[in-house]
Amino acid sequence: MTKVKVVLGDITKLKTDAIVNAANVALRGGGGVDGAIHRAAGTGLLEELIEKYPDGIVVGEAVPTFGHKLKAMYVIHTVGPRYYLGGVDHAKLLADAYRNSMRVANDLGCKSIAFPSISTGVYGYPIAEAAEIAVRTVQEEIAAGNELQEIVFCCFDHEAADCYKELLAS
Ligand code: APR
Repeated sequence: MTKVKVVLGDITKLKTDAIVNAANVALRGGGGVDGAIHRAAGTGLLEELIEKYPDGIVVGEAVPTFGHKLKAMYVIHTVGPRYYLGGVDHAKLLADAYRNSMRVANDLGCKSIAFPSISTGVYGYPIAEAAEIAVRTVQEEIAAGNELQEIVFCCFDHEAADCYKELLAS
C-alpha cells in the first residue's frame, strides 16, 4: 500500500530516494525551488544537466540526475505549465509533469519521492487547482501499478499544506 503524505518544509532537506525539481525548459537553474535545489546540490548538478540534457526538455517532461550533495539519491527535473500562457492545456501538462516524474522514479527503482507544488510559484498556478491535479494524477499512477511506496507532497507554506491535507482526507 503506497503511503501518500504531506510535509511542511524545505524539500532539499528530505531523505526520500528522489526529490522533484520544478525547473524550466532550459534546465540551467533559476529561482524558487529550482534555485534552492541547485544551491543545496552544488555545482555538480548544473554540470550534469549541461552534459546530459544540452537542449533542455519540454513542458511536462521529466528527466533524472544524481542528487550530488543533497540527501536524496536523485533529482527528477520536470517543468510545469505557466498558468498565464494561453493556448495550452495547463491541467494536462501539469498532470504530465507529475506522472512522468513518478515513472522516471519508478524506472530508477526509487521507493520514495517528494514533490514540491509544481507551477504554483513563479508559474502562477492557483494552489487549489494544482493540488487537485497533483493528488489525482499521483493516485491514478499508483492505481496503474507504479511501485513507489511513499509519495511526499512537500509544501513550503501552510496554505499549500492545508490544500493537500484536505484533498487526501476526502
Ligand atoms: N522546498 C519546497 N518547496 C519550495 C521551496 C523549497 N525549498 N522553495 C519554493 N518552494 C515552493 C514554492 O512556494 C511553490 O509552492 O515550490 C512551489 C513552486 O514554485 P517555484 O519554485 O516558483 O516553481 P514554479 O512555479 O514551477 O516556476 C518554475 O521558477 O524558479 C523558477 O527555474 C524555475 O523557471 C522556473 C520557474
